Amino acid sequence: MINFIKIKKIIDKRGTLISIEHNKLPFKIKRTYILNKMPKNISRGGHAHKKLSQIIICLSGKIRFFFSNGHGVKNRKYLIMSPNTNAIYLKPGIWRELKNLDKQSVIMVLASDNYKENDYIRNYKEFLNYKKN
Ligand code: TYD
Repeated sequence: MINFIKIKKIIDKRGTLISIEHNKLPFKIKRTYILNKMPKNISRGGHAHKKLSQIIICLSGKIRFFFSNGHGVKNRKYLIMSPNTNAIYLKPGIWRELKNLDKQSVIMVLASDNYKENDYIRNYKEFLNYKKN
């Protein structure tokens, strides 16, 4: 349901350098957005996309993700992301929610298209119906 992508990190005593070469990614990046300053225990997400592909990278902190492809309980996945976790490659048609577990959390999302509200499914029942068709 989700795939992982290894992001190059160059670690030395001066810190960590993270390098993302766009031509090595599975789709063309049109947009980057960042979530930070999230209160601890806050939930975000709660939607799926019809066409958008995304790569989620945790830069700091700890976040619990929930994913579902809409095909029953066996197709649900919980995952704790931290900077040690590989990036997540999220194809279209996957419901995602996150719960922030640390007040220092920062995530960066690389997306295949500009922000388009009509690409969102924000209601879980609607998502399940959408996946049936
Ligand atoms: P929202 O979808 O509620 O965020 P989340 O999925 O993290 O809970 O988005 C919050 C607002 O930001 C909403 O009005 C849409 C807007 N937005 C943009 O303008 N551009 C973007 O790239 C994104 C992701 C959201």
